[in-house]
Parts: sequence; structure tokens; C-alpha cells
Amino acid sequence: VAMAASNQERSFIMVKPEGVQRALVGEVIKRFEQRGFKLVGLKVLVPSKDIANVHYGEHEGKPFFPKLVGHITSGAVVAMVWEGKDIVKTGRAMIGATNPLASAPGTIRGDFAIDLGRNIVHGSDSVDSAQREIALWFSPDELAEYDPTVTPWIYE
Ligand code: PPS
Repeated sequence: VAMAASNQERSFIMVKPEGVQRALVGEVIKRFEQRGFKLVGLKVLVPSKDIANVHYGEHEGKPFFPKLVGHITSGAVVAMVWEGKDIVKTGRAMIGATNPLASAPGTIRGDFAIDLGRNIVHGSDSVDSAQREIALWFSPDELAEYDPTVTPWIYE
């Protein structure tokens, strides 16, 4: 049975250096996995200045921009592509508000973070930025095509 296109929305989710240092990679993956989303891309890397500048390009000129780029390039990140129905919006809800002090308990930031500059995870904020970010961080051959056997138990 062909998977509905709406169930194949994708988002770029990244565990930032503080999340890797604090051993929260498994925790982040676990939450997306258990919700029923499908992991189609995963890698660990220390981002270059170039990729960081493009990734956060829309914030260039803002006062926090140099600090943000300096931080994201300071250590290893885990870059991921997750797939599923409404993953962009739902992923943002699971991650929580940008400022962890405003993030609800039960969200990743609401459970594990305090400071805005150490908010553990990035998630695409729209389907358009998801497509841009996925193309920036992954080449097409790094994204897996497969049909997880649990699909009929997640989508009706
Ligand atoms: S905006 O333009 O102010 O609405 O920015 P926002 O979408 O809230 O945040 C964009 C990313 O910048 C990070 N950010 C900051 N980092 C450090 N210090 C400060 N003051 C700060 N303000 C915003 C914010 O966490 C977002 O990064 P990601 O990686 O997407 O969480």
C-alpha cells in the first residue's frame, strides 16, 4: 500500500553541541521514535562556519548571530531528518518554545534546558525551511528510502 504524501512531510532536527555534551542525543531520538516518526537521515559532525552561516542566514545582522554561529560550530552536533504527518509543526511542539524558560514541562527544552543560548535542539520552523535545511545538511543519497513495518499501526 502506498504511503499518503501527507505522511511523508520531513523536518530537519538537530541536537546542538550542548545536547551532545550532556548525553541527550538518545533522549531526543527516543521521543521522535516513540511518537511514531520515521528517521530517514542521521549524522554527527562539527559544523563548519560556512554551513552555520547559511543555516542561520535569516538571522544575520541580529545581535545574537555571531554568538549563535560561534556556538553551533564549537562542537559536534547530531543532524537528523525525521518524517511523518505534520512533523514540522509537531516537532516544534515536542521541542518547546525557543526560550526554555517559556517551554512547557514535557517538551524537550521544558524538561532539559534553562538558557536560550543552550536550548538543546533545533527544529525547522516551516515546511519551506525544512526543505532548505535538509538540502543544506544532507545529500540525497544520505536519506534512506524504506518502509518501516510499523506503518499500518501508526497511520490508519
Ligand atoms: S527571532 O528572529 O528572534 O524570532 O529568532 P528565533 O526564531 O526565536 O531564534 C532563531 C534562532 O536563534 C537562536 N537565538 C538565540 N541564541 C542565542 N542567544 C540569543 N539571544 C538568541 N535568540 C535567538 C534561537 O535559539 C534559534 O536557534 P535554533 O537553533 O533554531 O533554536
